[in-house]
Amino acid sequence: MTGPSASPTKISARPSVVLRAMGDDRRSADPCTLVIFGGAGDLTKRKLIPAIYQMAREGLLPDGFTLLGVAREEMDVAAYRKLMREEVAKSDEIEAVEDETWNKLAERIFYISGDLSQDAIYRVVHEQLAVIETPRHETERNRLFYLAVPPSVFETIVRHLSKSGLAPKMTDDAVRPWARVVIEKPFGRSLETARALNALVLELFNECQLYRIDHYLGKETVQSILVFRFANAIFEPLWNRQSIANVQITVAETVGVGSRAKYYEEAGVMRDMFQNHLLQLLTLTAMEPPVTTTADAVRDEKVKVLKSIRWLEGPDIDQASVRAQYTEGDVAGEHVPGFRSEAGVAPGSVTPTYAALRLWVDNWRWNGVPFYLRSGKRLAKRASEIAIQFREPPHLMFASKTRKQIEANCLVMRIQPDEGMSLSFQVKQPGAVYQLSPGIEVAPVAMDFSYDEAFGAWSPPAYETLLLDIMIGDATLFTRSDEVEAAWRIVDPVLKWWEANPPANMAGYSAGSWGPAESDALISKAGVWRQP
Ligand code: NDP
Ligand code: BG6
Repeated sequence: MTGPSASPTKISARPSVVLRAMGDDRRSADPCTLVIFGGAGDLTKRKLIPAIYQMAREGLLPDGFTLLGVAREEMDVAAYRKLMREEVAKSDEIEAVEDETWNKLAERIFYISGDLSQDAIYRVVHEQLAVIETPRHETERNRLFYLAVPPSVFETIVRHLSKSGLAPKMTDDAVRPWARVVIEKPFGRSLETARALNALVLELFNECQLYRIDHYLGKETVQSILVFRFANAIFEPLWNRQSIANVQITVAETVGVGSRAKYYEEAGVMRDMFQNHLLQLLTLTAMEPPVTTTADAVRDEKVKVLKSIRWLEGPDIDQASVRAQYTEGDVAGEHVPGFRSEAGVAPGSVTPTYAALRLWVDNWRWNGVPFYLRSGKRLAKRASEIAIQFREPPHLMFASKTRKQIEANCLVMRIQPDEGMSLSFQVKQPGAVYQLSPGIEVAPVAMDFSYDEAFGAWSPPAYETLLLDIMIGDATLFTRSDEVEAAWRIVDPVLKWWEANPPANMAGYSAGSWGPAESDALISKAGVWRQP
């Protein structure tokens, strides 16, 4: 399939308007200091600092921008700047670090070390901000506090931010200078703690200051799910139980736990990926058309889907879920250790690195259609996709010779990498046919659309989009408190059941495989997992 027009559309650096309120594109990023708590962690190194660098390169950062990293690791500012540059250079998204851009940005990067559970560090942050927030840096004293730390520290940080006066409660969005607080996922570690955290942050801050982030919502392909569904008249009539047999959502990673054992042992795959990213993909796939694309109209529809998902209970959870850990194996030609042998992981850990779930959306549109979700680390391939598996034709007149070969239509939305879509269907295999049936041969083919081919290098990384939105003050692509709680309602019983019933023998899968055999058994009634 070729691009939509002879001269490919040029995609602007600003993200598309899909889930964004009308008219907001006229606003630009405010000057500010970005304070990253957890400024030496994996998220900062792999995602945030490369995004900031790209924004600097593309001229998207406001002139009055400064960055203050805060973490426990002791190092001086020069060492921090050097480390950050090395991380930018490692990023897959960046070909080469441009000296001029980096040097200009580096002058505006600062670092302090300390324990964020203690009062003392907040006094140091105050002092450091007093040094940074001078007319020379033109930050206009706007402050963006980013909690890039494990969820166990969220509560203490927000309390300190408020108590220390670093982030005063605003009366409304128009207050200047502003203080905004970005809270990473998972928001809490259970439904109860998420509710408590929501109550706490709403007591300490105004909702307009809060940005609950799920970076999957910043991915262009995730935003484009709604455009695909609702800007094309041909698919929506088929998007229901009459035509769809099942939906498969896969988020597969090749990376292991890396240096994040401490965080990951707290979270596991259900909190790390399902409570947020996978359920977001499910809601966008299953939701009803929103009346408009304003933040609340979209979120309202998403919440309705989450509330329609059948609650899993007790022993049923064993039938509807799979948990497993990776064991040693080969990934992309490299031999890697099993999860229990990774640095910082307890030798007897039962933290799952892979999970699969079968969910039912109990509403008019989806009744009886299973949604299969799977995600894991150290799998065969990095691939995130949503596969819509259509029903088989009601009657096959090409039966006798070819029946085995006929596959039902499948529409695949590729979230990453190789962003695009493909639709498989059946054609007549060329060749002489003496009579229409039973001699005809049927073969599956695919119509494929690739964003890259159609639009060239097209998509800004999710964190670039989201950081820019926060600096602008646009919360459209962020999750609302009721949405977060509705998602916890689904995974919470699973986590509780798993925790109360630790496996006698944790299921394993070799690193570099497609997951445990139990996962194939989970989907077997509906068929097999689609291989990305
Ligand atoms: P890491 O463990 O790699 O980093 C956490 C950082 O927080 C470290 O710098 C750590 O310092 C610091 N930290 C923890 N506790 C304290 C404390 N009491 N005082 C000061 N600093 C502290 O985790 P990640 O970066 O991977 O994850 C952080 C958050 O980001 C999580 O909520 C995660 O879900 C989210 N996230 C991560 C992504 C990723 O790709 N990594 C992507 C999307 C979201 P120290 O080393 O001293 O412990
Ligand atoms: C994060 C998880 O939210 O998403 C990580 O904490 C995971 O464990 C990451 O690796 C995956 O993000 P992406 O954008 O690479 O698919």
